[in-house]
Amino acid sequence: MTKVIRVLTFLLLSSATTTATANPEGEARYRQGVMKSVGGHMTAIGMIMRQGIHTDALKFHADAMASLAKQSKNIYPEGSDVSRSEALPAIWEQAKAFQKATQRFIDASEAFAEAAGSGDQRAVGQALRGLGGSCKGCHDDFRAES
Ligand code: HEC
Repeated sequence: MTKVIRVLTFLLLSSATTTATANPEGEARYRQGVMKSVGGHMTAIGMIMRQGIHTDALKFHADAMASLAKQSKNIYPEGSDVSRSEALPAIWEQAKAFQKATQRFIDASEAFAEAAGSGDQRAVGQALRGLGGSCKGCHDDFRAES
């Protein structure tokens, strides 16, 4: 019985510490794909706001952004800072601060989606500044300049 417990404890501990990805290149490519989508929706949102085209699609892009922000929690497995990636080691070294930056993005994207649904232009503008600030807040500290 004690042997079984020891084995189980070992399995538990080792699964908790072995978080490195088995596919670093694939994970980095995947992350960049997700981030490109984030950038694409941001471009579309900017065009809607500045040029007044496709205004009906604002809520669609805002909802997509909020979904992407939630998924962005899962795109940084340890070991995925490959050479072709702009992800800085600080992501893993300052995990708490990075988690905060991700949460800020999630909260800001949700606030923006809510404002987009309200049709209140002032609220939309303000929420967009919050959203843009969350991108910059993370990129400044955690993304290498290209
Ligand atoms: C919590 C951190 C974080 C937040 C928030 C964040 N990004 Fe990023 N972003 C990154 C990192 C890290 C990379 C580099 C990824 C890589 O190269 O592996 C990146 C890369 C990108 C890229 C380049 C993708 C490519 O490879 O072509 C774009 C575009 C981008 N982000 C746009 C945005 C926009 C727009 C927002 C806000 C709406 C945003 N990001 C919010 C961390 C973040």
